[in-house]
Parts: sequence; structure tokens; C-alpha cells
Amino acid sequence: MAESKNPAPRATSNRSTTPGSDVFKSYISQHWADREDSVPSPREHALFAAKRRARISELYPGKRLIIPAGAAKVRSNDTDYAYRAHSAFAHLTGWGSDSEPGSVLVLEPTGYGHEATLYFRERAGRDSDEFYANPDIGEFWIGARPSLAQVAGDLGIESRGIADLESVIDSVDADTLIVREADRDLTDQIDGRRLLAADAESVDNDGDAQLARDLSELRLVKDEFEVEQMRLAVAATKKGFDDVIADRPEIIAHPRGERLVEGTFNRRARAEGNTVGYDTIAASGAHACILHWTRNDGPVREGDLILLDAGIELDSYYTADITRTLPINGTFTDVQRTVYEAVLEAADAAFAIVRPGIRFREIHQTAMAVIARKTAEWGLLPVSAEESIEPDAQYHRRYMVHGTSHHLGMDVHDCAQARRDMYLDGVLEPGMVFTIEPGLYFQPDDLTVPEEFRGIGVRIEDNILVTADGAENLSIGIPRTVDDVEAWLR
Ligand code: GLY
Ligand code: MN
Repeated sequence: MAESKNPAPRATSNRSTTPGSDVFKSYISQHWADREDSVPSPREHALFAAKRRARISELYPGKRLIIPAGAAKVRSNDTDYAYRAHSAFAHLTGWGSDSEPGSVLVLEPTGYGHEATLYFRERAGRDSDEFYANPDIGEFWIGARPSLAQVAGDLGIESRGIADLESVIDSVDADTLIVREADRDLTDQIDGRRLLAADAESVDNDGDAQLARDLSELRLVKDEFEVEQMRLAVAATKKGFDDVIADRPEIIAHPRGERLVEGTFNRRARAEGNTVGYDTIAASGAHACILHWTRNDGPVREGDLILLDAGIELDSYYTADITRTLPINGTFTDVQRTVYEAVLEAADAAFAIVRPGIRFREIHQTAMAVIARKTAEWGLLPVSAEESIEPDAQYHRRYMVHGTSHHLGMDVHDCAQARRDMYLDGVLEPGMVFTIEPGLYFQPDDLTVPEEFRGIGVRIEDNILVTADGAENLSIGIPRTVDDVEAWLR
């Protein structure tokens, strides 16, 4: 990405032409009104991002840190997937859905810490042919880019043109670290430079891995801005669930009703936020037993439970991750209610223990004690609940093979590279945000369960904030008890 200022567009000359005469080039470069040049004052997010940069700076004295946003990923030929910057880049810059593809944040070591510089492809002049002739980056094609001064003002970070990144690459030495997975091409260039600098044959990536880990752990405790974004993401997500409920008649009438569920939710996600935080799971009937059912091409039938696992990602990239399991015709059957209430009891028991000082893994253990007790009561286990929860038994996990909780933030599975000591075995602190999402899934062909249980899948997922003395369920406003769900559907 950093190799040239205006890369050639991907070839389309077999299907269209761009006028190349000097007359045309001169004509299209003239007679445009002046551009909007005002420099904004820093966005609210800027101060928080600066504090995050200061924390990572303290951990890496003397090291040059390169945090790329990454380029758009090719979907096919000259068509890309929707662009999304790497979360570490967005976290440290405050630049989310309005960020420029290919941008790079560099933290350059100084005597007292680091100086941050943001390199990005700034606005091109109307005298460039990129302006009208480059479908990848041209203003006529994808819209105007901001100026260096505008971004510097908006994010409160010194900004330079992407061409200037060359001099950073030229000065790369063994004391340079990069977030490897964000931009493969740039990582290859940096690796090449580091090999030269170290006169080595292979790059030692341990430092890069440690940087990725520290950037992940930096996100375990959310700041005030992040907590507010999580609240807003949950509120937007609730509207998406409301929309789905309102569209039930059409959804039931359509042979691919699950797709309508997905479409309705995703419409809200685009309207209120950036997009969905992950592919929506719209799983009706026995599809609910497929944990990550995202094909969503089945019908939604009267009498089914539909499991909707969906979250809206805001423009800041913070996302909710909510699951509700709804009786599509408005009323749980007796057996559906029995399963639902067991899952709810597991969720409530897990929530009840959340407070600073407990270990993350205790949440799962608490939920699983309920799941073991319930499945034992129903006669599903070959042993007692007490025997089943022994580490070398775990019969009850046949009906819930996934974990109960994961951290949540800019990524649905946030902080994924944090050490186990900080995550599963970590101790809760105020400001942590994670899911509690127990479930029970009785596969349609599971001979260990009575026939009336088969094909029922229930998950209830809430987004939890650890507070100074306990916890807050951020998604408590989205109905979750049997009575509240039935009233919601009415
Ligand atoms: N909501 C999907 C997941 O947590 O894996
Ligand atoms: Mn989840």
C-alpha cells in the first residue's frame, strides 16, 4: 500500500474508456467551486484515544510501533469487501467507519515517550487524474478524502501524506514492531527491513506478538467513552429486534423467513450504525441448534422458536452482541418454556455473582452448575449433576458446547489475544464488558433426549458491565423473561 502515491486503478479497459485527450484533462480539472476547508476541533473520542496511546507508549520505551489500519480486502476481481479498519488502529486513533483505507499510525520513540503520526492518503487535487479516473480511490468514484489538516484537527494527531511513510520504512530497524495481521503488504516490507537491520535470515516475531497481546489487553477495561458507546450499540440493537418482531407476518409468509429476519435487522444496523458487528444468526426451529447458523435460508414457521443472535456496530466500531429466543407465534409451548426457563436461570445465576474481584471463569462455572442440575433433573444425564460437573465428566456439555462469556467491545470477541491469565483466569475489574450467554441445544437427532425436546435450541445473551461494586446488565431493557417476551410479541 505504501509503495506509490497514486496506484494505478485495477484494469477495466475491456469494458469502458476514460477520455485521455489533453483537452479533456484540462477541462475536467477546471471550473470547480472551492472546497470546504475548515478544520474541525477534536472529536470527543480523541482525548480517550490519546490516553490509550500513552498507555501503550509506556510499555514500549525506545520502540517504534506501527499500527496499520489495513487495506480493503478483495472480494473478487475489482470488487472489495466493505472496508473496516483494524480494531487496534481504530482504538488508538478514534478513527472508525470514516477512516481512510491504508492509513498507518506510527508511534515514534522520543526521549520522553512516543510521538504519534498518522499517515494516510490525503485529498487529491483536481489536477490529478486520480480524481476522476481511479475507481479505487478517486473522488468521482468513492467520494472526497479529507485533508491532512482536517484529520489532524479531528483526531488531534499529527498527520502526514501516505507517501511520507516511505521515510519511516527506510528507517526501520530491529527496534520496530508492527501489528502483523492488519496489513500484510506493509508487514512484508517491514520484515524485509528488519532482516536487513538485524542481518538475520528469519524475523523473530515475538515482539510483534507481544504488541498484539498488549493492545488486546489494553481493551479489557473500557473507558467512559467506550461504555457510553456500548450503551448506544445495545439501544440500537434493541430497535433491530423490535423491527423483526414488527415484521413477523411477512417473515412467516416467506419461504426464506430467516433471510427476512436478517434483512430487517441489518437494515436497522445500516440505518443506525456502521453495520452489524458480526453475521446475524437468524435460526428458526432446529436451526437454533447450529450455534453459528448464518446461512439463514430457512422458513420461520408458526410454533417455532426463533433464535436471533445479532448486534449493531456503531460508526465508532463498538458493537452489541445480543441473543433472544422468541416463540414466533407469541406463546411458548410447555416444553419450550421449560427449556427457556432453565437457560434463563443459568443466565441469572451467572449474572448474580459478577462483581470486581471474582474470576472470569467463575461466571461459566456458575451457569454450568444450573445447566447440569436441570439436565440431570430431566433425566438426560447418565450420572448425577454433581458427577457431571467433575472436569473429567461434563456430560451436560453435550447440550451446550460453547463458553458462557466473552469480552465485548470493538470486536464481538474482543481482546482475543489477551493472555489466559488476564482473560479466562483473569480477575474482573470495573469497566470490563462481556457477554453472558448460556444456552441449551437439543439436536433433532439426539437419542439421549425425549422426543419433545429434540430440535429445540435456546440461547439468552446479555451484555454485562462490571461496576465498582457489582454489575449492570446493559441489555436488561430487551425483554428476556417468559412473560416479558410474550408481552413483547403481543
Ligand atoms: N454472537 C456470536 C458469538 O458470540 O459467537
Ligand atoms: Mn456472543
